[in-house]
Amino acid sequence: MPVVVDPDPAAAEKLLAALPPGGHSVPAADRLLAWLAIRSEEYVVLLGPSLPLEEALAVCETLRTARPTISVLLVRSLVDTEVLGRAMHAGVREVLALDDLPALEGAVGRAYELWTALRGPGGAAHHGRVVTVFSPKGGVGKTTVAVNLALALADRGARQVCLVDLDLAFGDVAITLQLFPSHSIEHAAGAEQSLDYALLEPLLTRHPDGVAVLAAPSLPDALDRISTQLVGAVLHTLAGQFDFVVVDTAPAFDEHTLAALDDTDDLVLVATLDVPTLKNVKIAGGTLDTLRIAEGRRHLVLNRADDAVGLGADQVEGILGMPVAVRLPSAMEVAASTNAGRPIVLARPDHAVTAGLRQLVRVVAGEPAAPLPGGSTRSRKADSRRRLFGGRR
Ligand SMILES: Nc1ncnc2c1ncn2[C@@H]1O[C@H](COP(=O)(O)OP(=O)(O)O)[C@@H](O)[C@H]1O
Ligand SMILES: [Mg+2]
Repeated sequence: MPVVVDPDPAAAEKLLAALPPGGHSVPAADRLLAWLAIRSEEYVVLLGPSLPLEEALAVCETLRTARPTISVLLVRSLVDTEVLGRAMHAGVREVLALDDLPALEGAVGRAYELWTALRGPGGAAHHGRVVTVFSPKGGVGKTTVAVNLALALADRGARQVCLVDLDLAFGDVAITLQLFPSHSIEHAAGAEQSLDYALLEPLLTRHPDGVAVLAAPSLPDALDRISTQLVGAVLHTLAGQFDFVVVDTAPAFDEHTLAALDDTDDLVLVATLDVPTLKNVKIAGGTLDTLRIAEGRRHLVLNRADDAVGLGADQVEGILGMPVAVRLPSAMEVAASTNAGRPIVLARPDHAVTAGLRQLVRVVAGEPAAPLPGGSTRSRKADSRRRLFGGRR
């Protein structure tokens, strides 16, 4: 994910808008270091124009050795040879002029390429992201989104993904994927203190398209034997093993959902265009604020967004006070592909719903939207900058 450092909120906002989705901003250098300390998915830091040069260079010096896989980009309103020279010595990867923001896309793309190359195949030590799909209402498409998001993230093995069914009483992840699990989360009950991946691995069911599934219990009464501590331990253990842990939930703030939300990095909130759902999502948003869950990392998915019911996406954004990250149209192919046991991202790669779900992957994984063939479409200015700093590390 990209991180912007700039004390001026307007400048930070401007830079974030020019970045791939999933970026985050902090107002000062010390906040940046605190933010990076608990995250491993950050691949680029943008030092904004309002950050004093000395402070920016000090940050860069620190990151150069502390986090060598992170590229540091320096944005200045005026780029002169003195700035370029000092930046180069501090280990800045590229210096960009504020009035040339389009060049940013290429620089960020190169940072991402470098980060993946340095991580090596499968990535270095795992600190996977937990992505919880939640809505206070049933039937809005949580399971559909969770299953398809997991498959699209896995991208046939490009990323390691585990899908956890935390709708413990009525989970339908396994059946949606036409899996017949012999084990479920229930078989880890009692092991919350001693849980490790060796114990958890035999409980997972593999889907042929590269997603591991931790199924919900087959009978609803097992719910009582699953403690909130177990939920926390399971997610923590899986995050140590997988790139992404996608969690499907029950339609309520029950104790298990709250335990998952406690551990979640990203929250996908699913809403539909009906007043009762929007009311409940709004109330849920208030609770999430109070509990400070996934602040700045909540993504609103408007499912069945094209339903002509007298409410539009703009009104939804107004009511909920958050932007719609992804809109998924209504399509009978969604239910048809689920019924056929091949979720839409597999069955219909060209479908508009699949395109929306891929957009959600980019939001969650924080990757640049375009493929990254070395940023060949950049301006001359950007290319010369690249040459200037090429081979520095
Ligand atoms: N965009 C969509 N278009 C058409 N049908 C959909 C769409 N999203 C979900 N559905 C269908 O709606 C029903 C409920 O979806 P589901 O994902 O099970 O919701 P939840 O998990 O929130 O209860 C399912 O039959 C599903 O196939
Ligand atoms: Mg469901």
